[in-house]
Amino acid sequence: MANMKLYLLLGLFAFFLRMLVIQGAEGTCRLLGKFDLHGYVESENHMLIIGGMFPIHFRTIPEKEPTTSEPVSPKCEGFNFRGFRWARAMIHAIQEVNNRLDILPNITLGYHIYDTCFTTSKTVEGTLAYLTGQNETMPNFRCSAGAPLVAVIGAGGSTLTIASSRIVGLYYFPEVGYASSCSVLSDKYQFPSFLRTIPNDNHQSLAMAELVRHFGWVWIGTIAADDDYGKYGIKYFKQNVEKSGICIAFSETIPKIFSREKILAVVEAIKESTANIIVVYSSDIDLSPLMEEIANSNITGKTWIASEAWVTSALIAKPEYFSFLGGTIGFGVRRGDIPGLKDFLLDVHPDNAASDDLTIEFWQTAFNCTWPNSTVPYNTDFRINVTGRESGVHPVSDQLCTGKEKLEDIKNTYLDVSELRITYNVYKAVFTVAHALNNLDTCVEGNGPFPKNSCAIIYDFEPWQLMYYLKNVKFTTFDNELVKIDDNGDVYASYDIINWQLNETGEISFVKIGIYNDTKDGHEMKIYNNDSIFWNTPTLKPPRSVCTENCQPGARKGIRHGVPACCFVCIPCADGEISNKTGTAQKECFPCPDDYCSNTLKNECVLKEVEFLAYDEALGTTLVAVSLFGACIVLSVTIVYRIHRDTAVVKANDRGLSFLIQLSLVITLLTSFLFVGKPKEWSCQIRQVTLALGFSLCLSCILGKTIALLLTYRGSKLNAAEKHDHISMQSFHQKLLVLISMIIEVCICTAYLTCIPPYVYKNMEFQNVKIILECNEGSIEFLCTMFGFDVFLAVLCFITAFIARKLPDNFNEAKFITFGMLVFFIVWISFVPAYLSTRGKFKVVVEIFAILASSFGLLGCIFLPKRYIILLKPERNTEEIISGKATTNDNSAPSTSASCTSEVTNSTLSSMVLDE
Ligand code: TRP
Repeated sequence: MANMKLYLLLGLFAFFLRMLVIQGAEGTCRLLGKFDLHGYVESENHMLIIGGMFPIHFRTIPEKEPTTSEPVSPKCEGFNFRGFRWARAMIHAIQEVNNRLDILPNITLGYHIYDTCFTTSKTVEGTLAYLTGQNETMPNFRCSAGAPLVAVIGAGGSTLTIASSRIVGLYYFPEVGYASSCSVLSDKYQFPSFLRTIPNDNHQSLAMAELVRHFGWVWIGTIAADDDYGKYGIKYFKQNVEKSGICIAFSETIPKIFSREKILAVVEAIKESTANIIVVYSSDIDLSPLMEEIANSNITGKTWIASEAWVTSALIAKPEYFSFLGGTIGFGVRRGDIPGLKDFLLDVHPDNAASDDLTIEFWQTAFNCTWPNSTVPYNTDFRINVTGRESGVHPVSDQLCTGKEKLEDIKNTYLDVSELRITYNVYKAVFTVAHALNNLDTCVEGNGPFPKNSCAIIYDFEPWQLMYYLKNVKFTTFDNELVKIDDNGDVYASYDIINWQLNETGEISFVKIGIYNDTKDGHEMKIYNNDSIFWNTPTLKPPRSVCTENCQPGARKGIRHGVPACCFVCIPCADGEISNKTGTAQKECFPCPDDYCSNTLKNECVLKEVEFLAYDEALGTTLVAVSLFGACIVLSVTIVYRIHRDTAVVKANDRGLSFLIQLSLVITLLTSFLFVGKPKEWSCQIRQVTLALGFSLCLSCILGKTIALLLTYRGSKLNAAEKHDHISMQSFHQKLLVLISMIIEVCICTAYLTCIPPYVYKNMEFQNVKIILECNEGSIEFLCTMFGFDVFLAVLCFITAFIARKLPDNFNEAKFITFGMLVFFIVWISFVPAYLSTRGKFKVVVEIFAILASSFGLLGCIFLPKRYIILLKPERNTEEIISGKATTNDNSAPSTSASCTSEVTNSTLSSMVLDE
């Protein structure tokens, strides 16, 4: 908006110019208006003049809209001792150049300094005055006969410089800034003739962001002056911090034109915010009313981050503000000492230049007196009445100045040379111009940079020719600092990090706590010693500034809609997920690896408990013991059979088959050992197979038995020789049957194990905290085929036994087998639903139960009745009773069969014994 106005102004101005020139050519020039500019001029007897613009006053006095009277250029108010020091430093620097023999030995420089009053309008007035001369009637021509102006130093604040630099840029007239740090001034397209000795603010914004990150502050308020400096500075700072997840709690602007309401609104925002860190990008002049209001409102507990324009300003760093502003951290541009400056500053007296308004005003303000016979209004220091700014010039003080007042006796910003930062920049700016002029002067014809290797002539050169030398300037100051201007007109960035502390005399001292330097590869920030920093907090520890405290490990940040990301809620992690970090990395919880689950605090993944039926737990031990017990019983049966091998009961049964059945029962009983314990690849692979083989051996033997029972009955009708053949054939068939069934089963098992074998499987589906270690059966189809064959055999057994149960036999063998088969079926049929409905290790328990139950069932039904007879009823263990002769005389057939069977058994057994 301000720029728009300026353009409009310039446009109008250009129009009048044209009119004037045209009319001028016809001989009628008209003075459009007179500027009211103040400053210092020293041009006589000098060959070249350097211009300078400094804020020697704080502001202009707002005039009422002129309507009926002739408009006049506004007056200024609020004497700025700091700006006055800068202006005096320029004069000092020029004098030094003039005294030095190595720079411009034959040429002396004059100066032309204007007061900008820290306003754009005065700056533009000054700039135009430079270009045309103050009393010229013909702008665009510089007609005066005086020494040519070579460059302008200035104009202080960035907004002022932007305005003036746009004008001088039109003529490619050099302007060297000493305080204008705004980043846009590096744009050579807009400001082709601007250079500066202060670093570009982008570096400062980056440094501030780095500082904020360094101390872990994430909730920050920003305040910017309502000008290019404040707005661009804060904008770049925000861009930088927001990248690192830092949030801006509030963004306020300080008005350029004093407005109490607007300042109170800013104060209110600060008061209400929970942000303890406030970054302020503003000149001290603009910030001063806000700080006064902050002191009035008694806002404490905030840590202020200062930009270079106010970090060492006596206007803000007042001891009475220390309780609010103590501990402020800021960035100051490199400081330097200027030899002889202090003496030069002291050498100012209204008597030396009686007509000089500024010096008189300085004297009057410094000593609070009125210079005799002076029309210069007396002006207090920068004063604001909190009820509204007092405008206008203050009444003349009653006390008359004597001229004998001693500057040495007063404490004044003007004389404070302890923090020469901007002053040092002014000094460097003058030397930049001087060195450029010197280079221009020392150019050797034929080696020059201009067309045909020509040189410019120091008495008569064009601004663009000096620009060439300015852009290539490189020199070292007496402070041993290398000043080098780059292509954008910028210098290398180097800042001191300054902390406000209270010294013994009760004043604020600016303690250097670190540095920030722009290096070739990035930048480096060094904070010397964290303990040397003063923090204005009750604990004297670094403040914290967060919207919401970080979540504890075990929780994650949950977004709250409509508020910045730094204000969040903490949501505990779900089961199986953890978060063990705090800070920015806590956006989400991370799932634990497969074998792990989260602990109760959700901050660590712990190994899941592995569950399987172990030998050392009660259930495992019991089952193993039972199966071992079963195996012992079977063994005892074998022993009993062996001892009583010649008794009728034993002989009545095929001993080979009985032995195989016993063997198979031992096998099936002992497979429970494979089911208990940690499943291994090998145990998974053999356990079902062994079981299936065990059962198929057992069932095929039983089938052999039952078929034999059926066939024996038929054989009973044969004669003796036929019977013998029949019996040996039958024994052979029995063995063949067992062999074939075993071969079939072995084939199925082999195919199963080679094609899709079972494997160890970590089952994590059912429980989050446990891994169930189990065997995955690989192929269900193969498993079913394998056990299906067993079932097939069992069904055959059952059918044959069922048919044979009515046949008269020795001692109801077929009945017992039928019964045994029924037990077998019942066990395995009830096994299926039980197995499917259990989980984890109990699945294995169910299976072992089924194995044990079916094995014991078979054992009980097939062997125990016989053992009972052998051991407890030896009187019934006679061939007569066994063959049924003793009880059923009418039934001859079974007896034959029984004796036949015993014969067969005998022969088989003897052959087995032989085999052994
Ligand atoms: N850097 C400021 C700008 O670009 C000007 C500045 C620096 C300033 N130091 C200052 C203004 C001290 C006033 C007082 O606008």
